[in-house]
Amino acid sequence: MLNEISNKKTTQPSDGDQDNETSRITSNGYRLVTVEDLKRDAETTAMLQAANATMKALGYTEHGQRHAGLVGNIAQNVLEHLGYDQRTYQLGNVAGYLHDIGNAIHRQNHALSGSLLAWGILKRLNMSPQECALVMNAIGNHEEERGTATTAISAAVIIGDKADVHRSRVQNPRMEDFDIHDRVNYAAKRSFVRVHPEEKIIALELQIDTYYAAVIEYFEIFLSRMTMMRQACEFLSCKYQLIINDTQFA
Ligand SMILES: [Fe+2]
Ligand SMILES: [Fe+2]
Repeated sequence: MLNEISNKKTTQPSDGDQDNETSRITSNGYRLVTVEDLKRDAETTAMLQAANATMKALGYTEHGQRHAGLVGNIAQNVLEHLGYDQRTYQLGNVAGYLHDIGNAIHRQNHALSGSLLAWGILKRLNMSPQECALVMNAIGNHEEERGTATTAISAAVIIGDKADVHRSRVQNPRMEDFDIHDRVNYAAKRSFVRVHPEEKIIALELQIDTYYAAVIEYFEIFLSRMTMMRQACEFLSCKYQLIINDTQFA
């Protein structure tokens, strides 16, 4: 019964759905693709699931739909709170959702491969070439080794990605086998990106359970992440703040 209802909705959209769809077609005939389109897209879902399966097999933390959704949401929130227009923050969410799909191919150069995979998906969904280029740039620049924020969208994706340190990312089922990345992520009971638009501050607030990892271990493994996050905040004309267990470190 549920399937019948859902099929009916897909094949026979209500007038409201049609109006909504019509309003998403630009004067050039392109579609204003949103993250909701990607969440419904079987190809995107398959790539994200394959990316996470690869990372899990290699012993990495979660890089699938949870991470994708969270990074997209943070990127959108940052841009929205800083007063960027609706389409810019929607594209931030799209780029955040897609940023790690390249891991489906290989961990190395996954920013580049993911960017090209995204192009195929977004072209098929009829996103304009200009918007595709913005999303591809953000995906291609999200890694510490070779990425730099050169647009507001790329900066927001970097902030979302580098902020995601949380115990729910740990995929290793045996605590006795935890490496330092597992321990630091497991120790992070709460992580939150708070934007203070008036003060022009973007703060990463972390609560770390020091039973599992010392605060210094966070710095040990995430120094390059923090440096990249600070550059991204500065690109957005904001100061980066890091607050761990209510103590301000930057
Ligand atoms: Fe990545
Ligand atoms: Fe990521």
